[in-house]
Amino acid sequence: MKKAFICSVALAFLCSIGLVSMAAAGVDKGPAEITINPNGKKPVKFPHAMHQKRLKCATCHHSKDKDGKQVPYTEGMKIQKCETCHTGDMLKGKVKGRTAMQRAGHGRCLACHKEMAKKDAKYKKLKKCSNCHIKKKK
Ligand code: HEC
Ligand code: HEC
Ligand code: HEC
Ligand code: HEC
Repeated sequence: MKKAFICSVALAFLCSIGLVSMAAAGVDKGPAEITINPNGKKPVKFPHAMHQKRLKCATCHHSKDKDGKQVPYTEGMKIQKCETCHTGDMLKGKVKGRTAMQRAGHGRCLACHKEMAKKDAKYKKLKKCSNCHIKKKK
């Protein structure tokens, strides 16, 4: 009991340092758990915080300039939802017959998960549809 209390105080302290340094850098890390495209045909569950621990923000986030060209992530950049830009004909022709969100999601998420599954058998389940896609609430 006592030990648990000391631990939680230590944790609170560490967290507050984290918050302070984050606030100082002005970086909003977004929610820890996300449902991507909740109103789409195939919503996806996404443990954001867990990926942030091992990957750089720039692996997934980017922006665009006024000509519609992709601009790499820079710290403090305004981060928008993927579906803000990945609509309609975006990335047309790069992968046939897919929606813009599927190309964004599979191009980024599934590509890495397949890579991981190839490298290490313990990651095999990562490429299963049901690893990411959740049943839609009716
Ligand atoms: C593995 C990919 C990935 C990594 C790495 C990642 N993010 Fe995200 N992030 C996402 C996705 C996907 C969303 C949800 C976008 C959506 O709902 O369309 C998101 C959402 C966000 C949002 C909320 C945007 C909004 O308008 O709802 C913020 C803020 C954010 N991320 C910041 C960060 C920061 C800062 C980092 C680095 C510390 C980071 N992310 C790392 C994939 C990632
Ligand atoms: C501010 C607009 C914008 C947002 C928000 C955005 N993208 Fe993109 N994305 C682009 C542009 C522009 C391109 C390049 C389009 C082209 O080459 O036709 C692109 C290309 C891509 C590509 C293919 C090229 C590559 O770099 O591999 C993937 C995959 C991708 N985005 C995934 C995502 C994901 C996942 C998210 C959400 C975490 C996201 N995008 C959010 C604008 C955006
Ligand atoms: C560059 C590599 C990479 C990218 C990009 C990536 N992931 Fe992952 N993801 C992983 C790895 C590695 C794990 C397994 C972590 C572990 O079990 O240690 C994982 C685990 C997961 C899990 C399973 C968590 C669990 O409870 O088993 C989900 C769901 C997931 N990712 C969804 C996504 C989605 C959605 C995206 C795109 C927005 C994404 N990932 C992008 C590497 C990646
Ligand atoms: C690594 C995570 C991941 C895996 C595994 C995965 N997907 Fe996806 N998929 C996504 C993301 C992210 C999106 C974009 C978000 C969205 O549109 O719901 C997406 C989008 C889609 C879409 C388009 C939905 C729409 O509204 O436009 C379809 C269809 C789809 N996936 C089918 C599949 C099938 C079938 C499998 C198994 C063979 C699969 N996905 C495996 C992450 C994944």
